[in-house]
Amino acid sequence: MNERSVTVLGVGAAVPDRVVTNDDLAAFLDTSDDWIARRTGIRQRRVAGLEMATSDLAVRAAWEALQGAGAGAGNLDLILVATSTPDHWMPSTAALVQHALGATRAGALDVNAACAGFTYAVATGAQFVLAGTYRSVLVIGADLMSRVVDWSDRSTAVLFGDGAGAVLLGASRRPALFHSILGADGSGAHLLEIPAGGSRLPPSSETVRDRLHSIRMQGREVFQFGVNILVRSLRQATEEAGLQIEDLALIIPHQANIRIIQSAAERLGVPLDRFWANLDRFGNTSAASIPLALAEAVSSGRVHQGDVLAFVGFGAGLTWGVNLVTWGGE
Ligand SMILES: CC(C)(COP(=O)(O)OP(=O)(O)OC[C@H]1O[C@@H](n2cnc3c(N)ncnc32)[C@H](O)[C@@H]1OP(=O)(O)O)[C@@H](O)C(=O)NCCC(=O)NCCS
Repeated sequence: MNERSVTVLGVGAAVPDRVVTNDDLAAFLDTSDDWIARRTGIRQRRVAGLEMATSDLAVRAAWEALQGAGAGAGNLDLILVATSTPDHWMPSTAALVQHALGATRAGALDVNAACAGFTYAVATGAQFVLAGTYRSVLVIGADLMSRVVDWSDRSTAVLFGDGAGAVLLGASRRPALFHSILGADGSGAHLLEIPAGGSRLPPSSETVRDRLHSIRMQGREVFQFGVNILVRSLRQATEEAGLQIEDLALIIPHQANIRIIQSAAERLGVPLDRFWANLDRFGNTSAASIPLALAEAVSSGRVHQGDVLAFVGFGAGLTWGVNLVTWGGE
């Protein structure tokens, strides 16, 4: 236990209203509800209209987290937005969120660790609270994956969705565990990428023609990575914190594929109901997936004061992260 502790004071989530089912996708892709559901567990996802950008959803999730904590935006010290689908290359999405919230005292920063982004941002934000530098840090995971999916590629288009989730981090008055591990292996960068649009391959009519602004993925390799890293990182994080896997009341994994979660649960010897899964309704919302699942778990009464929760994320980079958090330690 740290002398000074950090905890989650409030949690919020937001998704677009529009539901896109597997059958909707099968209307224009060579796929089926049966294939998608069996291979991934996904049945539907939310897709934002063009009037909405990542910051709009992020702000909605943020208000809910602040409200849940009974906190005002004026006291925020720092806003971190984990996203790989920012509104713009610059300014940061976090700066747009800061303005929309009226968080006049807060610094603002985007964190890009793809689908592991939320765990990176929680680990980063928590350090400011643990160090005593800041009292109130808003961490948001938000992505509009529908904007970067190639809608003609059935191997990726069926997987992703749009969403946002947020947590307010602050000092805990009671002893509370907080432990994070972060990892990266850039040798796997090519396994999951958006090839064009950055400094390596700037936008051109050719990059647009060749659909190089959307996600390219080697699915089987990423699947294996997902299973292995869930198992390895959860073992490492719990061991470092002096816990057993059984001590985790609830594991909130990145929502990529139910078969990844099932395989990891089996290898860890943890019953599947110890993992929260909602990807059947939202698909893979990248950096939003963990806080979106957390918000649902909390509102459904599955999370109790004193529970040790594990957030575990993995994705492009390759990157991964785990946060172990005691719930309700304020
Ligand atoms: C993408 C994924 C669902 C594919 O499942 P899979 O069981 O590995 O399937 P494969 O890639 O081996 O493809 C099997 C067949 O299904 C086909 N297929 C792929 N997508 C399909 C779809 N949406 N509908 C129907 N058939 C599809 C393939 O073309 C292939 O056909 P072939 O055998 O004739 O070549 C799976 O690899 C996966 O989930 N990977 C991890 C993805 C992920 O989580 N990414 C984000 C991480 S943050």
